[in-house]
Amino acid sequence: MEIDLRGRSFLKLLDYSPDEIRYLIDLAKEFKRKKKEGITHEYLHGKQLVLLFEKTSTRTRCAFEVAARDLGMGVTYLDPASSQMGKKESLEDTARVLGRMYDGIEYRGYDQSIVEELSEKAGIPVFNGLTDQFHPTQMLADIMTAEENFGDMKGRKIVFMGDARNNVANSLMVICAKMGINYVACGPKKQMPEEKLSEVCRKVAEENGSTITFTEDVSIGTKDADVIYTDIWVSMGEPEEIWEERIRLLEPYRVTEEVMANAKKEAIFMHCLPSFHDTNTTIGAQIAEKYGICEMEVSDSVFESAQSKVFDEAENRMHTIKAVLYATMNVA
Ligand code: CP
Ligand code: NVA
Repeated sequence: MEIDLRGRSFLKLLDYSPDEIRYLIDLAKEFKRKKKEGITHEYLHGKQLVLLFEKTSTRTRCAFEVAARDLGMGVTYLDPASSQMGKKESLEDTARVLGRMYDGIEYRGYDQSIVEELSEKAGIPVFNGLTDQFHPTQMLADIMTAEENFGDMKGRKIVFMGDARNNVANSLMVICAKMGINYVACGPKKQMPEEKLSEVCRKVAEENGSTITFTEDVSIGTKDADVIYTDIWVSMGEPEEIWEERIRLLEPYRVTEEVMANAKKEAIFMHCLPSFHDTNTTIGAQIAEKYGICEMEVSDSVFESAQSKVFDEAENRMHTIKAVLYATMNVA
C-alpha cells in the first residue's frame, strides 16, 4: 500500500494506522543508514521549521534541530521567555502568524488540546514534542530501538514499570496496541492509565493480535518480558510536593537487577531519559538528602549494564523525527 503523509500533523499515535507507523520507522532506519554512510539528504532545502518549547528539553529539541538541518531546513527555537505566546498573544493568533512564515511547527508543552488547536489553526503540519498526555515521537524511536535488538516486535512483551499513567506510558501503550506488541503496565493502582484510553487501546490491541494488561505484581508483570521500560516518577509540570507520595508509591517498582533477572535472558532495558539513576543531578541530590534514596526509577547498575539501550534510544530520536519531518513536510 502506498503511504502518503504529506501535509499531516503528528499529534498522537492514535491518529496513525499501523502501516503508517511502520512506514515512519522504516524510513527512519533508512535515514540512519544514510547518515552513517555520510550520504547527504537535504531533501527539504528551503523549508522552515519553528520549535515552540513551553517545557525544557535536551533530546527532543536537539533531535528536531539536527534532523531539520540534515534535511536542509532552517530552524527557529522559541521558549516561553522569548515569545509572546500565551502572555501577550493568544495561541490562535500565534498559530496563524507562524503558519504564514513556516512550513512546520513543533510544540512541547502542557495539555494535548493545545497542540491539537495549534494544528487546527496553523494550516501547516504540527508535531507533538511532548504534552501532559502523550509523547509520540519518543515512541517511534523506542520501537525502532527494540527492533534493532529483536527484529520484528509483534507478539513480544514490553513492560512499563512505575508511573503508568504518564505521557510516555500512555504513548507506549498506544504504540504497542497499534503494532501488535503485548503491553503490561506494572505499578500501583493509583498510577494506572485512565479508563478511557485503556479501553481504546484494548480494542486496538485486539484488532492487531496483542494484549494490554495491568498488574501491581512486579514478579508476574515482568516475567519473561522482552523489554523493561521505565520513566521518571514525577513528570514536568507536576507539583514538587508530589515527590513524597510518588517515592512511597513507586519505590517497589524500581527497575533493579532482580527485575531484569525475572525477564527473558536477552531482555533489554529502555528509558526515554532523563533518568534519576544516581545523585549526579540537582534534583537527584536533593531527593537523596531529603528521602535517603540514591537511585529512583532504575538502579545505577541496570542503567549502566549491557542490557541498557537508553543511548541508542536517544540517538534514534533524531532519525525518527527526521522521518516524520520528511514524510509530512515533503510538499511542493
Ligand atoms: N526523552 C525526551 O523527550 O527527552 P528531553 O526531555 O530531553 O527532550
Ligand atoms: N514523563 C516525562 C518524560 C520526559 C521526556 C515528563 O513529562 O517529564
